[in-house]
Amino acid sequence: MAKGIEQTDISRVILMFLTPLLALAFLAFSTAAMAQEGRIHPGAPIYKQAGCITCHKWHGMGGPGYGGTPINFRQNFLTREQLIEVIACGRPGTGMPYHIPEAYISYDCYEGMALDDFEPEDQPGKSRSVLRYRQVKQVAEFIIDHFEGRDDTLLPSDCEIFFGKSRMCKNLKMDSGGGGGAK
Ligand code: HEC
Repeated sequence: MAKGIEQTDISRVILMFLTPLLALAFLAFSTAAMAQEGRIHPGAPIYKQAGCITCHKWHGMGGPGYGGTPINFRQNFLTREQLIEVIACGRPGTGMPYHIPEAYISYDCYEGMALDDFEPEDQPGKSRSVLRYRQVKQVAEFIIDHFEGRDDTLLPSDCEIFFGKSRMCKNLKMDSGGGGGAK
Protein backbone atom coordinates (compact mmCIF):
# COMPACT_ATOMS: atom_id res chain seq x y z
CA MET A 1 0.00 0.00 0.00
CA ALA A 2 2.66 2.47 1.11
CA LYS A 3 4.71 1.52 -1.88
CA GLY A 4 1.79 2.33 -4.18
CA ILE A 5 1.53 5.83 -2.75
CA GLU A 6 5.26 6.27 -3.06
CA GLN A 7 5.13 5.32 -6.69
CA THR A 8 2.40 7.81 -7.52
CA ASP A 9 4.41 10.47 -5.69
CA ILE A 10 7.47 9.64 -7.71
CA SER A 11 5.59 9.74 -10.98
CA ARG A 12 4.02 13.03 -9.94
CA VAL A 13 7.46 14.45 -9.25
CA ILE A 14 8.72 13.16 -12.57
CA LEU A 15 5.73 14.69 -14.32
CA MET A 16 6.31 17.99 -12.54
CA PHE A 17 9.80 18.15 -13.98
CA LEU A 18 9.05 16.59 -17.28
CA THR A 19 6.08 18.69 -18.29
CA PRO A 20 7.88 22.04 -18.30
CA LEU A 21 10.88 20.41 -19.92
CA LEU A 22 8.74 18.99 -22.69
CA ALA A 23 6.97 22.32 -23.08
CA LEU A 24 10.32 24.06 -23.37
CA ALA A 25 11.59 21.56 -25.89
CA PHE A 26 8.43 21.96 -27.93
CA LEU A 27 8.73 25.74 -27.81
CA ALA A 28 12.35 25.66 -28.93
CA PHE A 29 11.47 23.29 -31.73
CA SER A 30 8.54 25.29 -33.02
CA THR A 31 10.43 28.59 -32.85
CA ALA A 32 13.21 27.06 -34.89
CA ALA A 33 10.69 25.85 -37.42
CA MET A 34 9.09 29.28 -37.55
CA ALA A 35 12.43 31.01 -37.96
CA GLN A 36 13.17 28.73 -40.83
CA GLU A 37 9.82 29.49 -42.41
CA GLY A 38 10.44 33.20 -41.93
CA ARG A 39 13.46 32.83 -44.17
CA ILE A 40 11.79 30.88 -46.88
CA HIS A 41 8.21 29.75 -47.39
CA PRO A 42 7.89 26.00 -48.05
CA GLY A 43 5.95 26.79 -51.21
CA ALA A 44 8.70 29.02 -52.67
CA PRO A 45 11.04 26.27 -53.90
CA ILE A 46 8.05 24.47 -55.41
CA TYR A 47 7.06 27.64 -57.27
CA LYS A 48 10.51 27.68 -58.83
CA GLN A 49 11.14 23.97 -59.36
CA ALA A 50 7.69 23.17 -60.76
CA GLY A 51 8.17 25.90 -63.35
CA CYS A 52 5.40 28.28 -62.21
CA ILE A 53 8.08 30.92 -62.28
CA THR A 54 8.66 30.57 -66.03
CA CYS A 55 5.12 31.71 -66.82
CA HIS A 56 4.01 33.65 -63.75
CA LYS A 57 7.48 35.10 -63.08
CA TRP A 58 9.23 35.65 -59.79
CA HIS A 59 7.08 38.72 -59.15
CA GLY A 60 3.82 36.83 -59.73
CA MET A 61 2.49 39.24 -62.32
CA GLY A 62 3.04 37.13 -65.41
CA GLY A 63 4.69 38.37 -68.56
CA PRO A 64 5.49 37.66 -72.19
CA GLY A 65 5.26 34.10 -73.41
CA TYR A 66 2.85 33.09 -70.77
CA GLY A 67 0.00 31.82 -72.91
CA GLY A 68 -3.12 33.49 -71.59
CA THR A 69 -4.73 36.62 -70.27
CA PRO A 70 -2.20 38.11 -67.91
CA ILE A 71 -3.19 37.40 -64.36
CA ASN A 72 -1.62 38.96 -61.36
CA PHE A 73 -1.23 36.92 -58.18
CA ARG A 74 -0.97 40.16 -56.24
CA GLN A 75 -4.61 40.81 -57.11
CA ASN A 76 -5.70 37.25 -56.51
CA PHE A 77 -9.45 36.81 -56.15
CA LEU A 78 -9.42 33.04 -55.81
CA THR A 79 -9.93 31.25 -52.52
CA ARG A 80 -7.37 28.78 -51.25
CA GLU A 81 -9.55 25.90 -52.51
CA GLN A 82 -9.90 27.47 -55.95
CA LEU A 83 -6.15 28.03 -56.16
CA ILE A 84 -5.58 24.39 -55.28
CA GLU A 85 -8.01 23.29 -57.99
CA VAL A 86 -6.43 25.44 -60.71
CA ILE A 87 -2.92 24.27 -59.82
CA ALA A 88 -3.93 20.62 -59.54
CA CYS A 89 -6.23 20.58 -62.59
CA GLY A 90 -4.97 23.38 -64.80
CA ARG A 91 -7.32 25.85 -66.43
CA PRO A 92 -9.11 24.51 -69.51
CA GLY A 93 -8.87 26.78 -72.51
CA THR A 94 -5.65 28.45 -71.32
CA GLY A 95 -1.97 27.60 -71.17
CA MET A 96 -2.22 26.72 -67.48
CA PRO A 97 -1.25 23.02 -67.22
CA TYR A 98 -2.42 20.52 -64.62
CA HIS A 99 0.14 19.33 -62.09
CA ILE A 100 -1.41 16.31 -60.37
CA PRO A 101 -0.89 13.34 -62.70
CA GLU A 102 -4.19 11.72 -61.66
CA ALA A 103 -6.16 14.88 -62.44
CA TYR A 104 -9.43 14.20 -64.29
CA ILE A 105 -8.98 10.49 -63.56
CA SER A 106 -8.94 9.57 -59.89
CA TYR A 107 -8.38 13.17 -58.73
CA ASP A 108 -11.64 15.10 -59.12
CA CYS A 109 -11.46 18.21 -61.28
CA TYR A 110 -14.24 20.75 -61.75
CA GLU A 111 -16.94 18.48 -60.35
CA GLY A 112 -16.19 15.31 -62.20
CA MET A 113 -15.03 16.64 -65.55
CA ALA A 114 -12.98 14.34 -67.77
CA LEU A 115 -10.43 15.65 -70.25
CA ASP A 116 -12.61 14.35 -73.07
CA ASP A 117 -15.40 16.66 -71.96
CA PHE A 118 -13.39 19.53 -73.40
CA GLU A 119 -12.70 20.28 -77.04
CA PRO A 120 -9.19 19.05 -77.85
CA GLU A 121 -7.89 22.61 -78.10
CA ASP A 122 -9.32 23.46 -74.69
CA GLN A 123 -7.93 20.46 -72.84
CA PRO A 124 -5.37 21.61 -70.31
CA GLY A 125 -1.89 20.26 -70.90
CA LYS A 126 -0.06 18.04 -68.48
CA SER A 127 2.76 19.82 -66.72
CA ARG A 128 6.22 18.37 -67.09
CA SER A 129 6.65 18.67 -63.35
CA VAL A 130 4.52 16.44 -61.19
CA LEU A 131 3.21 17.74 -57.89
CA ARG A 132 1.70 15.85 -55.00
CA TYR A 133 -1.42 17.25 -53.33
CA ARG A 134 0.62 18.47 -50.37
CA GLN A 135 2.92 20.45 -52.66
CA VAL A 136 -0.07 21.91 -54.50
CA LYS A 137 -1.37 23.15 -51.15
CA GLN A 138 2.01 24.61 -50.23
CA VAL A 139 2.40 26.50 -53.48
CA ALA A 140 -1.21 27.76 -53.24
CA GLU A 141 -0.41 29.03 -49.76
CA PHE A 142 2.73 30.66 -51.08
CA ILE A 143 0.63 32.64 -53.56
CA ILE A 144 -1.64 33.79 -50.74
CA ASP A 145 1.09 34.46 -48.16
CA HIS A 146 3.66 35.99 -50.47
CA PHE A 147 1.85 37.73 -53.34
CA GLU A 148 -1.75 38.41 -52.42
CA GLY A 149 -2.61 41.98 -51.51
CA ARG A 150 0.75 43.42 -52.55
CA ASP A 151 1.08 46.41 -54.87
CA ASP A 152 3.10 46.08 -58.07
CA THR A 153 6.39 47.31 -56.61
CA LEU A 154 9.30 45.10 -57.61
CA LEU A 155 11.53 44.37 -54.67
CA PRO A 156 15.01 42.83 -54.93
CA SER A 157 14.13 40.73 -51.87
CA ASP A 158 11.29 39.10 -53.83
CA CYS A 159 13.72 38.16 -56.59
CA GLU A 160 16.34 36.94 -54.11
CA ILE A 161 13.94 34.32 -52.73
CA PHE A 162 14.48 32.44 -55.97
CA PHE A 163 17.80 33.63 -57.35
CA GLY A 164 19.79 34.62 -54.29
CA LYS A 165 21.75 37.84 -53.99
CA SER A 166 22.49 38.04 -57.70
CA ARG A 167 23.21 41.07 -59.85
CA MET A 168 20.00 40.32 -61.72
CA CYS A 169 18.01 40.92 -58.56
CA LYS A 170 19.82 44.18 -57.81
CA ASN A 171 19.13 45.73 -61.21
CA LEU A 172 15.41 45.29 -61.48
CA LYS A 173 13.53 47.45 -63.87
CA MET A 174 11.06 49.13 -61.62
CA ASP A 175 8.25 49.30 -64.15
CA SER A 176 5.08 47.69 -62.88
CA GLY A 177 2.64 45.45 -64.71
CA GLY A 178 3.24 42.22 -66.55
CA GLY A 179 6.73 40.98 -66.93
CA GLY A 180 8.79 43.94 -65.78
CA GLY A 181 12.33 43.40 -64.64
CA ALA A 182 14.26 40.17 -64.61
CA LYS A 183 12.78 37.03 -66.03
C1 HEC B 1 3.08 27.28 -69.38
C2 HEC B 1 2.83 28.44 -68.54
C3 HEC B 1 2.31 28.21 -67.13
C4 HEC B 1 2.87 27.44 -66.13
C5 HEC B 1 4.11 26.57 -66.19
C6 HEC B 1 2.04 27.64 -64.97
N1 HEC B 1 1.03 28.49 -65.25
FE1 HEC B 1 -0.45 29.06 -64.00
N2 HEC B 1 -1.42 29.98 -65.50
C7 HEC B 1 -0.95 30.11 -66.79
C8 HEC B 1 -1.98 30.69 -67.62
C9 HEC B 1 -1.86 30.99 -69.10
C10 HEC B 1 -3.10 30.91 -66.77
C11 HEC B 1 -4.49 31.36 -67.15
C12 HEC B 1 -4.75 32.78 -67.16
C13 HEC B 1 -6.13 32.98 -67.68
O1 HEC B 1 -7.09 32.69 -66.95
O2 HEC B 1 -6.25 33.39 -68.82
C14 HEC B 1 -2.69 30.47 -65.45
C15 HEC B 1 -3.51 30.54 -64.34
C16 HEC B 1 -3.10 30.23 -63.07
C17 HEC B 1 -3.87 30.47 -61.89
C18 HEC B 1 -5.26 31.09 -61.84
C19 HEC B 1 -5.13 32.54 -61.48
C20 HEC B 1 -6.40 33.33 -61.58
O3 HEC B 1 -6.49 34.36 -60.88
O4 HEC B 1 -7.31 32.98 -62.31
C21 HEC B 1 -3.11 30.06 -60.83
C22 HEC B 1 -3.47 30.11 -59.36
C23 HEC B 1 -1.87 29.54 -61.37
N3 HEC B 1 -1.89 29.66 -62.72
C24 HEC B 1 -0.83 29.03 -60.59
C25 HEC B 1 0.25 28.35 -61.13
C26 HEC B 1 1.22 27.62 -60.34
C27 HEC B 1 1.25 27.58 -58.83
C28 HEC B 1 2.07 27.03 -61.22
C29 HEC B 1 3.20 26.08 -60.92
C30 HEC B 1 2.89 24.92 -60.13
C31 HEC B 1 1.66 27.42 -62.56
N4 HEC B 1 0.56 28.22 -62.45
C32 HEC B 1 2.30 27.05 -63.72
C33 HEC B 1 0.29 29.72 -67.26
C34 HEC B 1 1.14 28.85 -66.57
